[in-house]
Amino acid sequence: MLIRIRWLLAAVGLVLAVVAAVATGKAWPGAIAEVPPPAPGSFDKALVGRGEGLAHLGNCSTCHTADGGQPLAGGKALKTPFGTIFATNITPDPKTGIGRWSREAFFRSMREGLSRDGHHLYPAFPYDHFTHLTDSDLDALYAFLMTRPPVVAQAPENELIWPLQYRAAVAAWNLLYLQQGPMGSADRGQYLAEGLSHCGSCHTPRNKLGAEIVDRRYGGAWTQGWYAPPLNVHSPAARPWTPEDLFVYLRSGFSANHAAAAGPMSEVTRELAEAPEEDVRALAAYFAQQMSAAPAAKEAASLPDRSGPAGQAHPEGAVLFAGACANCHEAGAGMMLQGRPPLSWGTPLHEETPHNTLHVIVEGLHPAPGIAGPTMPAFGNDFTDAQLTEIAAYLRARYTDLPPWQDIPKAVADVRKGSIR
Ligand code: HEC
Ligand code: HEC
Ligand code: HEC
Repeated sequence: MLIRIRWLLAAVGLVLAVVAAVATGKAWPGAIAEVPPPAPGSFDKALVGRGEGLAHLGNCSTCHTADGGQPLAGGKALKTPFGTIFATNITPDPKTGIGRWSREAFFRSMREGLSRDGHHLYPAFPYDHFTHLTDSDLDALYAFLMTRPPVVAQAPENELIWPLQYRAAVAAWNLLYLQQGPMGSADRGQYLAEGLSHCGSCHTPRNKLGAEIVDRRYGGAWTQGWYAPPLNVHSPAARPWTPEDLFVYLRSGFSANHAAAAGPMSEVTRELAEAPEEDVRALAAYFAQQMSAAPAAKEAASLPDRSGPAGQAHPEGAVLFAGACANCHEAGAGMMLQGRPPLSWGTPLHEETPHNTLHVIVEGLHPAPGIAGPTMPAFGNDFTDAQLTEIAAYLRARYTDLPPWQDIPKAVADVRKGSIR
């Protein structure tokens, strides 16, 4: 009930803001005229190459490529608390893509969240971050996109809750939350984090209207049912994140001093693997700085691994672990002898909720086809909900000093039904 009232208030606020936006003439901006599709050969090769690196830093293809679909041709469903939004075709197909978009139309979409014909784009497209890009970076991205193979593909219709199917509502959102314009930062890491790489779009908590709460930047947030942990002084990491650890993790999806990147983060690291190395180093240095005052400075040696007492408190969990997990995760197992981190070094067991831990157990870890990476079988079909609860409680007790998780069965249900929270 409380939640309904909040929604109602939010809707009323939005309607008022729409009125304000209409009054200031921002709700229905005009179209930018179509242009003849620019010839791919008209773009400078070096510029296209730089654009490709930037596209990896901005994860363009993660959102704009449907599962099994053509690169950048759109159609991927993004689930948000407001409904499902489909990323569009950004290949240069003249009819269904952006083939007839001028440089100006592209710049406006990235900076103001407006499509070429003037309709508002939903902020599931992180233009609230891309708005910070410099002209030179936008030019390179434009050159890259306009030289991709054109693909004919139309994204399905969005499925959104009232009143958000009315795109004009976004004008109000922009009025309230969009801080437009390129960001003047001398720090390359900060520029990338806040602009192109939009790390806060997952790691910064959002308010009821889905806008990032700026004074809790990188404070940890829910994304697609996963928890993107804090990357600031509140980092729950068990061990300190050095610039080198972060660089290796962001680039390879694995840190021998922490754990593997799973879920939505593994998609980010797959893209960063192909981004310019110095840019990934700049991101790593920036976030190491953000987390430098976090309480993680514990020595590895003091992190617990007390199978005895934890086993007594959770006998069923201990038995399941011995049967299904120990041959990889127990000290002395073949995998551990190859320098893999003990479970106590990973952040998931130290987070406030068991969701990420449960996701990994239920879904396993599967590197992208053709790419080497940490692999763990999925156990979702092997365990009952009660067994998953036992295992999670056992892991938390055995590998951390933290209080037991509350309400594991609820988290198991969330993970089972793919709830995005
Ligand atoms: C987090 C997901 C996400 C990422 C990352 C993302 N986009 Fe998008 N983008 C979307 C969605 C969703 C839409 C459609 C929004 C709508 O229809 O309201 C969109 C729309 C667009 C549009 C407008 C297309 C049109 O037909 O109106 C452009 C241009 C665009 N994206 C370019 C990019 C570029 C360039 C990158 C990488 C730098 C990128 N996007 C990264 C989700 C994303
Ligand atoms: C699409 C959502 C998303 C985006 C974008 C994203 N992250 Fe993450 N990130 C996550 C999730 C979810 C996790 C938890 C994954 C896990 O438990 O393996 C995570 C985990 C991490 C971790 C591990 C933290 C720890 O203590 O274990 C780091 C570091 C990190 N992200 C950095 C970044 C940086 C830097 C960026 C921007 C370049 C970024 N993330 C962008 C979703 C995202
Ligand atoms: C075939 C080997 C294998 C088995 C069996 C296995 N895992 Fe894993 N698990 C991995 C790998 C590989 C990783 C990624 C981290 C790494 O590379 O060390 C991982 C990561 C995890 C993580 C993520 C957090 C972290 O610190 O990396 C959790 C939690 C986890 N495993 C729990 C379990 C549980 C519980 C079981 C038994 C139900 C299990 N695993 C069985 C190989 C395995």
